[in-house]
Amino acid sequence: MTGHKILIYPQRKEELRRKSDPVIGMNKRVRRLIRNLKATSQANPDGVGLAAPQINAHQRVVIVRLGSEVEGKWRAGPPIALVNPEIIEAGDERRDFDGCLSFPGLYGETKRPHHLRVTGLDEEGQPVDRVLEGFNAVLVHHELDHLNGVLFIDRIEKAEDLYRLSVNENGELVRLQVSSDLQLAGNLKQVASQVELVDVDKKK
Ligand code: NI
Repeated sequence: MTGHKILIYPQRKEELRRKSDPVIGMNKRVRRLIRNLKATSQANPDGVGLAAPQINAHQRVVIVRLGSEVEGKWRAGPPIALVNPEIIEAGDERRDFDGCLSFPGLYGETKRPHHLRVTGLDEEGQPVDRVLEGFNAVLVHHELDHLNGVLFIDRIEKAEDLYRLSVNENGELVRLQVSSDLQLAGNLKQVASQVELVDVDKKK
């Protein structure tokens, strides 16, 4: 299985903005959706999560690859499914890295809870009640947003917090500030059409 095509913003804005419906009963269709999401997630190892609307399925199902810090580097675990996830507690809001497979090459800094308690069902239909901390809370929060048609660009507070990563002529990874000729979201108004070199990041 190679997975499904991921819907890209803004071309598939309408579908990405659609609110997903609760899953009623773990039937064959839901299980197939979970399989498709996992396959799509595995085919896109850069992403640590995927929500059903990103493959044009409007059911409340997300896949997350919860991770842990190993020798200072964040390692993502295997994809797990959350069905009908609900946020029970949210706290410790802080700025962190954000990005989305529906926005290839675009990254940003958003403010999200770093403590989250989520209930829902696992892929067997069994109830789950999980507490997530740190970046795991961030990524689950990001995926749950998708189910309500909320995208990470909506949580960008100012245009300077949004950037693209690109490789320069010296082979270094650089941050390019994004100007919103891209018409990204209502809260990011038109700025200019050029990108500006703002920062050099040699981390990777
Ligand atoms: Ni996303």
